[in-house]
Amino acid sequence: MLAVHLVSFLFSKLQEDPTKKVDRFLHAMRLHDDQLRDISARFLSEMKKGLSAQSSAAATVKMLPTHVRSTPDGSEKGQFLTLDFGGSVFKVLHVKVREEMGIRRGEVEMEEKTYPIPKGLLEGKGSELFDHVSESLKDFLQEKNISLEKKHPLAFTFSFPCEQSSLSQGLLLSWSKNVRARGVLGKDVVQALREAIDRTGGMNVEVLAMVNDTVATMMTCGFEDRRCEVGLIVGTGTNACYMEELRHIDLVEGDEGRMCVNTDWGAFGDDGALKDVITEYDREVDAASNNAGRQIFEKMVSGMYLGELVRLVVLKMARLGLLFDGHVSDALKTKGKITTAHVAAMEETKNGLKNTRSILMGLNLTPSQNDCVAVQHVGTIVSFRSSNLVAAGLAAILTQIQRNRNLRTFRVSVGVDGTVYKTHPQYPKRLHKVLKRLLPECRVRFILSNSGSSKGAALVTAVAQRLASQKQKVDETLSLFRLSYQQLQVVKARMRAGMEAGLRREGRSELKMLPSFVYNSPDGTEHGKYLAFDLRGTNFKALLVNFKNGLQKAELYNKIYTIPPEMMQGPGAELFDHIAECVSDFLDYMGIKNLGLPAGFIFPFPCKQTAIDAGTLVCWTKGFKTTDCEGHDVVKMLQEAIKRRKEFELDITALVNDTVGTMMSCAYEDPQCEVGLIVGAGSNVCYMEELRNIETEQRDGNEEGGTDGAKTTGVAEVERMCINTEWGGLGEAGSLDDIITPSDVEVDQNSVNPEKQRFEKLTSGMYLGEVVRHTLLDLTRQGLLFRGRVTDALKTPGIIQTKYLSQIERDRLALLQVRSILQRLGLDSTCDDSIIVKEVCGAVSHRAAQLCGAGISAVIDKIRENRGLDHFDVTVGVEGKLYKLHPHFSRVLQETVRVLSPQCRVTFLPSEEGRMKGAALITAGVRQMKM
Ligand code: G6P
Ligand code: BGC
Ligand code: BGC
Repeated sequence: MLAVHLVSFLFSKLQEDPTKKVDRFLHAMRLHDDQLRDISARFLSEMKKGLSAQSSAAATVKMLPTHVRSTPDGSEKGQFLTLDFGGSVFKVLHVKVREEMGIRRGEVEMEEKTYPIPKGLLEGKGSELFDHVSESLKDFLQEKNISLEKKHPLAFTFSFPCEQSSLSQGLLLSWSKNVRARGVLGKDVVQALREAIDRTGGMNVEVLAMVNDTVATMMTCGFEDRRCEVGLIVGTGTNACYMEELRHIDLVEGDEGRMCVNTDWGAFGDDGALKDVITEYDREVDAASNNAGRQIFEKMVSGMYLGELVRLVVLKMARLGLLFDGHVSDALKTKGKITTAHVAAMEETKNGLKNTRSILMGLNLTPSQNDCVAVQHVGTIVSFRSSNLVAAGLAAILTQIQRNRNLRTFRVSVGVDGTVYKTHPQYPKRLHKVLKRLLPECRVRFILSNSGSSKGAALVTAVAQRLASQKQKVDETLSLFRLSYQQLQVVKARMRAGMEAGLRREGRSELKMLPSFVYNSPDGTEHGKYLAFDLRGTNFKALLVNFKNGLQKAELYNKIYTIPPEMMQGPGAELFDHIAECVSDFLDYMGIKNLGLPAGFIFPFPCKQTAIDAGTLVCWTKGFKTTDCEGHDVVKMLQEAIKRRKEFELDITALVNDTVGTMMSCAYEDPQCEVGLIVGAGSNVCYMEELRNIETEQRDGNEEGGTDGAKTTGVAEVERMCINTEWGGLGEAGSLDDIITPSDVEVDQNSVNPEKQRFEKLTSGMYLGEVVRHTLLDLTRQGLLFRGRVTDALKTPGIIQTKYLSQIERDRLALLQVRSILQRLGLDSTCDDSIIVKEVCGAVSHRAAQLCGAGISAVIDKIRENRGLDHFDVTVGVEGKLYKLHPHFSRVLQETVRVLSPQCRVTFLPSEEGRMKGAALITAGVRQMKM
C-alpha cells in the first residue's frame, strides 16, 4: 500500500506543471492589481511633480511640453520631408498630405527608405551622427527625384527626451536606448540638424518641427480618430504622451486650451520609486547598460531589455539546477543572446514551444519538454510584467485626463506603436485587459499606428505651418487696434487741441466744451428734500433725497421706470410725456406731489446750457433719435409735458450732465475730485476749467458769447466752472482717421448717427461689442475663424454686447467657458476660434481703455497747466459698467494715464450710482445760494 502511494507521489511530482516552478521562482515579477494600482498612484504624483514649476527639476517623469496644441482637425495639407530617428530603424520619408492629383480628401501618401546607422556612429561624435542623417536625406532626395532646389519643409521625429521652448527647438536632456553620441547633450538638436544639412550642402530644407515619437504616433492615429489624445510607444524604448490642459503646465505661459505633454516616462523609478518591485535581474540589466541608474522603468518594460531579462532569469535557473539539468552554455552566458524577438516567438500561440526549443538549441542547450515549457513561461512572466507596468502608467495618464475633464466615465483612444506591441503576439491583449481592470470606468480604444510616426510628424508640421500663417493674418488685423506710445501721445494732443478750440468756440470744434454752470464742489451744508431724475438708455430713474447736513446721513428713495425702445426713435413729445408720467407716478408713490420740491434733471446728452436750468439739446447720441428735440430746450420740453398733464408743477432747478453729477458726488467724498468720467453706454468727461478760459452764451440775447463767465454766476469770487467736454465728438472732423479701422467704419456707418461721436464709438460700451462683431466678420470672411462660415448669428447687429466682452476677457476663464458663451450667442466655435475671439475682444477693449487714458491725460495736464503747476494731484470720479465690470479696462486706463501724464498723480474714485446724488447736491447748492 505504502509503495503504491510512493509511486503515485513520485509520478505526480514528475507531472508537476513546470510553470508552477517558474511562478514560484519569479514570484517578485508577478505584480498583482493592488501593486499596479499603487504604482499607478505613484506615477500620477510624479506626473504632477513634473508639471509643477517648483518640483519639475526633481521629477523623474519629466512631463515635457511639446508645443503641439491640437490633434489633427482634417484641414492639414502639404508635402513634407520627415526624418525618423531613435527607434529600431532610421528612416527618411516624403509625406504628401492631401496634395497633388490622385490623393483624395483624407489621404496621405508616403515614400520611405531605411538607412542603417553603424554602431560606431551611435556612440561616436554627435556631429558625425547628424552628418550621416543629413547625407541620408540628400541620398533620399536624389534617389526619389525630389528637387534639390525647391524649398522643402521638414519634420524631425527624434525619439529622446528634449526640452522644447517651441516646436522647432529642443535641447537634448539625455540619450537613452542604444545611442550615446558625444557633444549633443544640452544642445539644440534642431540646430545640430540644420548645421549638418548646411555642411552636407546642396539641399533647400527648412526644419519646421521636431517631435517625439509618442507625439507623432498620437497625431498619426488622431488623423483617423478624433478621440486619440494619448500616444504610446512600447518598442526599443518606451514612453507615452497625452493632451494636458495648458493651465496645468506651469512651464508654458497661458492657460488657454491644451498642449501635448511628453511624459518621457522611461525614467520613472530613477529616484528609487520602484525599489520594492525591482528584482536582481533588473539590477543586472541596469548595471550592464550604457546608462546605469537611468531609465529604470524603461528597462523593465521595453524591447531593448526584455530578451536580456529572460536570459538572466534562465541563466540563474539553470545555474541552480532548475533547468537543463543544471547545464549552462557559453551562449546563454553571453549578453544579448536572447532578444525580444525571441521572447515574442516563444509566445506564439501555435508554434511557441517549438520556437522555444529551437531558440534554446541555438544557444547550444539541450532542453527537455519541461525546460521548454518553463522557459516559455519565463518569457510570459517577463513580458506580462512589462504590459502590466505600461497599464499602470497609462492608468495614471487616463486618470489625469478624466480629472481634467471632470468625468466619471469617458472614452478615449490611444495611438500605439513600437516593435514590442506590434510583434509580441500576446502583448496587446494583456495590456488591454489589465488596463480595463485598473480603470473600469474608462473605455479605451487602442489604435495601432501602421504607418509609423512620420505621418503624424508631417501633420504636426502642417498644422504648425497653417497656424503660423493664420496667426500672422489675425495679428495683421489686430495690429490695427494696437496703439503705440507715439500714437497715444498724438491722440492726447488732438484731444487737447479739441478742448482749446471748443473753449474758444472756434468754428465747428470736434469737442463741444459745454459750460455746465456748476461752479462749486458741495460743501456739506446741503439740507432738505430734493428730487433727481435721470434719463438713461432704456430706463428712467427717479430719486428723492433728504439731506441732513450733506450726504452723510441723507435718506434716499428711488424708483426705476422703463423707456420703451421705440421711444428712442419716436416723436419728442411722446418721450417727454412718458417722462412726465414717470415723474407723476414717483411723486404719487412718495406722496410728495404738491410739495413743489426742487429737482435736478440729468440729461446725459450734449446740451448747450445758457444757465444752470436751461439748455438746448445739440444732438442725440447713444442710439437715441427721437424727433423734434435737437435744438430745443429740454427743460422746457419736460415742463411743457408736465403742463399738458395739468396735475402738478415741477421746479427743475438744475439741468445736469451725467459726468457732472458723477464728479459732484465724488467731490463730496474727495475735494480733489475735479474730473468726472463716464465710460458706460456712452463716453464723456467733465472737469473744472478756469472761468477766464471759458466763452459762454447767455440766456438772454448776447448770443455772440465773449461774456466773462464769472459775470453769469453772480458770485464774484468763483474762478472755475465745470465744463462738459463731450469728448465723444473727437474725430468728427477727421482727427482720428489715422487710427480708425475698417470695423470702426462699419460700426459708424451702421449707427443712427453716422460720422458723429467717433471717439465715443471707439471707447464706449454701446459700440465695443459691435466693433468686435465686425472684426470677427472680417476674420471669418478671410477664412481665419469659424471655419470661414458667416452665420446669421454673426450677422446680427448687437449680438455681442459689451457685457460679454467683460466675461470673455476674464483671466482665468477656461476656453470651454468662452466657447459656451459664444455657443449661447449662436456662434459655434472651436477652441482655436475661442482663442481668436478672446484676442479680438482684448484688442478692442484695450484700445478703448488706452484712448480714454489718453483723453484723461489731456484733461488733467490742461488743468495742471492752467494752474501753472509742475506737479498736480487730482481725483477722477468714474462711473460706467465698462470701467467697473471689465476685468482689465480700469487697469489699462490708469496705466496709460500714468505713462502719458508723469507730472500728475491721479486717483480714480469709482462712483456707486453717484450721478443722481450729485445732481441733487447741485440742486441743493443752487437753491441754498438763491435763498
Ligand atoms: C515608430 C516610429 C519610431 C519609433 C518607433 C518605436 O514606428 O516611427 O520613430 O521610435 O515607432 O518603435 P521601435 O520598436 O522601432 O523602437
Ligand atoms: C525615450 C523617449 C522615446 C521612447 C520611445 C525612450 O527611450 O526617452 O523619448 O519616446 O524611448 O522611443
Ligand atoms: C453723451 C454725454 C454723456 C455720455 C455718457 C454721451 O453719449 O453725449 O453727454 O455724458 O454719453 O453718458
